Amino acid sequence: MIRKCLFPAAGYGTRFLPATKATPKEMLPILTKPLIQYGVEEALAAGIHTMAIVTGRGKRAIEDHFDISYELEHQIKGTSKEPLLREIRDVIEHCTFSYTRQKEMKGLGHAILTGETLIGQEPFAVILADDLCDHEEGDPVLKQMVELFNRFRCSIVAIEEVPADQTHKYGIIAGEEIEEGIYRVQNMVEKPDPKKAPSNLAIIGRYILTPDIFDKIRRTKPGKGGEIQITDALLKQAGEGRVIAYRFKGRRFDCGSVDGFVEATNHFYEKYRAK
Ligand code: UTP
Repeated sequence: MIRKCLFPAAGYGTRFLPATKATPKEMLPILTKPLIQYGVEEALAAGIHTMAIVTGRGKRAIEDHFDISYELEHQIKGTSKEPLLREIRDVIEHCTFSYTRQKEMKGLGHAILTGETLIGQEPFAVILADDLCDHEEGDPVLKQMVELFNRFRCSIVAIEEVPADQTHKYGIIAGEEIEEGIYRVQNMVEKPDPKKAPSNLAIIGRYILTPDIFDKIRRTKPGKGGEIQITDALLKQAGEGRVIAYRFKGRRFDCGSVDGFVEATNHFYEKYRAK
């Protein structure tokens, strides 16, 4: 059973400067809801109630967001605006939040290792809140992955096909398709040049990881820019035949980029208007 979800949220979000100078990237809203709340709601929909958040300096707004604001509650109680707080109240009521800080931004692998103290020795989910996922029908993406974990009992990475000229932005996998959309991963390359990419199947910001990943990250040497990549540690698990890549059903928006952020805004605005 997956009980905990880790949110690495310590990155600087430099692509969104100056907005992210004093505001965490994860708190940027798509319509009226911050990115990280979408992520927490997705975890909750997958049956996960314990949220573990890796933050850094200047990220305190995340903690305040997932706490009760008594003045605000008092101010809007009984007014027409009260329903606007319904979703966040639900989240606060049904989840527990714990936090730890990544002192130096040494990459996603390092951020995940920083979260070890909150996770312990059990399989766990990871959501990168700036990859916003939506689904039209069926289950939300993380729930689809939890179901797959219950079958395969190994690490699961979510993948999507990207245009060949975009492979340099992602971890790219190669593997054997064992069922439609389900691959046993044999190889993984971090941000390859299109010519060197083993496929166009890119890892996006949803993972389920088994806890041996922590030791594997510890044994991973820093790569490009001194960063510790999660891909390198996952490759060690893949070498043991213990990583499944899953072409999820749904749509992902790269809200860490301006284009993706605007696309997500338009997508959710269309849905909001259609209500
Ligand atoms: P990104 O590659 O999007 O980096 O990180 P970033 O710093 O957030 O944004 P840019 O590129 O400067 O605009 C992917 C995810 O990993 C987390 C980020 O918070 C984001 O959710 N991360 C990355 C960490 O928590 N720590 C790190 O050291 C690096």
